Amino acid sequence: MSDRVALGVGGGIAAYKAAELARALMERGYSVQVIMTRAAEEFVRPLTFAALTGHKVITNLFATGGAEDTLSSAIEHIRVAQDSQVLVVAPATADLIAKFAHGLADDFLSTTYLAFTGPVVVAPAMNTNMWNHPATRANVRTLRERGHVIVEPGSGPLACGMVGPGRLPEPELIAAAVMRALEPVKQDLNGETVLITAGPTQEPLDPVRYITNRSSGKMGYALAADAKARGARVILVSGPVAISEPAGVEVVRVRTALEMRQAVMDRLDESTIIVKSAAVADYHRAEVPQQKVKKTSTRLTLDLDPTPDILAECGRRKGNRLLIGFAAETENVVDYARRKLEVKNCDMVVANNVAQAGTGFDANENEVTLVMRNGEVPVARAPKSAIAHRIFDEIVKLKK
Ligand code: CTP
Repeated sequence: MSDRVALGVGGGIAAYKAAELARALMERGYSVQVIMTRAAEEFVRPLTFAALTGHKVITNLFATGGAEDTLSSAIEHIRVAQDSQVLVVAPATADLIAKFAHGLADDFLSTTYLAFTGPVVVAPAMNTNMWNHPATRANVRTLRERGHVIVEPGSGPLACGMVGPGRLPEPELIAAAVMRALEPVKQDLNGETVLITAGPTQEPLDPVRYITNRSSGKMGYALAADAKARGARVILVSGPVAISEPAGVEVVRVRTALEMRQAVMDRLDESTIIVKSAAVADYHRAEVPQQKVKKTSTRLTLDLDPTPDILAECGRRKGNRLLIGFAAETENVVDYARRKLEVKNCDMVVANNVAQAGTGFDANENEVTLVMRNGEVPVARAPKSAIAHRIFDEIVKLKK
């Protein structure tokens, strides 16, 4: 039996393009069940989708017929949720994205979304200002963190006259994302124990002050989620971050570089792959005063000592484990990364140009070069979850 796609159509100018998407999905052998919001019906008639897909189009949570009709339609969203292998929403309006993010369920599509446990693909389309609004940004972030695939809107002239991001991505692109979402993740890290460090460390200067590095932990957490999905046992040694833990991962929380070193060394023996994505502080105050340092009007000089280089120590003790380091650089990115690969005895260094806007640090996207002994693999700008997947694709090859 062919896989069934539930295609949610939101109310936007781009709703007509959902018909092309339905066709693209059917060409790929899927059976398509269309669910339209009330607003979508203002743009396209349900008959268009019914004729294309050969299935009745669902438009209302509550049917207007008799009691029996109402009962069957009131539980139909559960049936659709159970019978579909993937839910794709295109165009996803700002309103739908907000509803999904907050769990509001007042129509057929939003109730189906809540009842659905499989992969979700969201293809937003809206006015540029709506897309850039902090409310929409936060809601999209929530959906991403939930593991949904967001097919980024394209840039160009919009129906409202503005030029910028907000156009519904090409139906072919959305269909490809649906196909990928349905591919079972290969369990190619089965039997491995992956030790990942993530986030910054904090080095206290006194009881109320500390120095730290810029790092959100997003890259390391995405790596942990990907390794888990591939069947590994995952130990995530995390500095202080403000993001939620990936499910099924053993999290060890640390604050300082010394604590991180201890946590890593304690678990080195049981690990087979070590990925050091943490932004460890290179210096700390060896003796932290017990009391708060009082302000004076004279210059303050801080004496800092180097912290232990955890990656280098792992390199010395690695045995036949795979060791992956990170290099955040602002210039000569690949050269410096290659030097780190040699000096710290790594099998791969993920080189990251942090001088670039929109990637690295706090961003959701990254663009990196994987520097290995036998060459380099550039990885184009993509969400950190996709970058994490590419990194493990290469790690798996190194295992062989
Ligand atoms: N790292 C570590 N322990 C430290 C410092 C860094 O394990 N005390 C690890 C990081 O987790 C990362 C890699 O080393 O995987 C690269 O860190 P980076 O700070 O870029 O390298 P440095 O050795 O500090 O080199 P430089 O300052 O010259 O760039």
